[in-house]
Amino acid sequence: MNQLGTGIAITGSGSAASEVTLDNHQLSQIVDTSDEWITSRTGIQKRHLMDAQGSLSEMAATAAHSAIAMAGIAPEDLDLIILATSTPDDLFGSANQVQAHLGASKAVAFDITAACSGFVFGLATASQFIRTGLYQNVLLIGADILSRWVDWSDRSTCVLFGDGAGAVVLQANQSDRLLGFALCSDGTQNSCLQLAYEPQDQEIVKGLTVAKGTYQPITMSGKEVYRFAVQKVPEVIEKALFRADITTEQVDWLVLHQANQRILDAVAQRLNIPKHKVLSNLAQYGNTSAASIPIVLDEAVRLEKIKSGDIIVTSGFGAGLTWGAAVFKWGR
Ligand code: ACO
Repeated sequence: MNQLGTGIAITGSGSAASEVTLDNHQLSQIVDTSDEWITSRTGIQKRHLMDAQGSLSEMAATAAHSAIAMAGIAPEDLDLIILATSTPDDLFGSANQVQAHLGASKAVAFDITAACSGFVFGLATASQFIRTGLYQNVLLIGADILSRWVDWSDRSTCVLFGDGAGAVVLQANQSDRLLGFALCSDGTQNSCLQLAYEPQDQEIVKGLTVAKGTYQPITMSGKEVYRFAVQKVPEVIEKALFRADITTEQVDWLVLHQANQRILDAVAQRLNIPKHKVLSNLAQYGNTSAASIPIVLDEAVRLEKIKSGDIIVTSGFGAGLTWGAAVFKWGR
């Protein structure tokens, strides 16, 4: 058992995105859409896009560097790196490339995939290693380059997504600041939102055929995902708050996965959380999947909107379908 106990504190955050952006006016030259339609239906005005040479692991490492610096530790102090992503550079996993970029020689590293819920699922996963006393310093990154898998001729999806990375450092701490969480999955609704593998037959010897294919662009039933989010996200937040013994009135910040401004507004309204407590950067980033929560969190921390001790409730939701919520106090 370590000296610091098995409490958990989130002590640093960081984020990164390409400087290249695509605004709604530029999008309306590619597909039949308009700035007015996109802004009024989603709140998105532009999104950051990684160019063809860009790597997910480098972007993730940039976000991680900032988080590690804020936490006041060195990469060699890290015991564990968890990378939540659905768009790795390498299907065998990209967390180890991040470890190499950082020079985090002591850390074990692995990927987890839970789409837009990846950050919240990662938070719950990371916390288990600290709770058991096994590790003291854990780096959690949410990073996605969904532009790699968007069908740029499908106006119902291409207007929504952007690329980015966000990271936090979790540390063993005397007092426990990760107050509660709840996670859910419903695979029966998997077809609502997919980035699916499409096999093609490849006969390797006579009579033996295996698959050689690739992943097909993102498909989504927008209305179904919208209905799911507006119903299930308030429920899972209430569950996490109940487990944390925190009331909605005590919440300082609602930090939702940045999918759509209308979803953010509807969830806040159902929970009776006033608008000024709801963080949003949708206008500038769009939906960056697993990265969206740590990016918007990092922005608010660096702007000193979020202060040490503030109570944050966060919720991720998306493909799987998956959804989850966590309640924590910022800082040590
Ligand atoms: N520009 C102009 N018109 C469009 C566009 C567009 N980009 N996209 C769709 N339309 C049209 C449709 O074709 C339809 O036209 P029709 O009435 O002639 O058939 C009309 O607009 C309405 O389409 P709907 O799909 O009903 O539009 P809706 O109001 O539901 O908004 C949206 C669509 C924004 C996708 C909404 O359903 C939504 O936000 N859903 C949730 C999506 C989401 O959050 N996904 C990500 C979560 S999971 C993850 O992050 C991986």
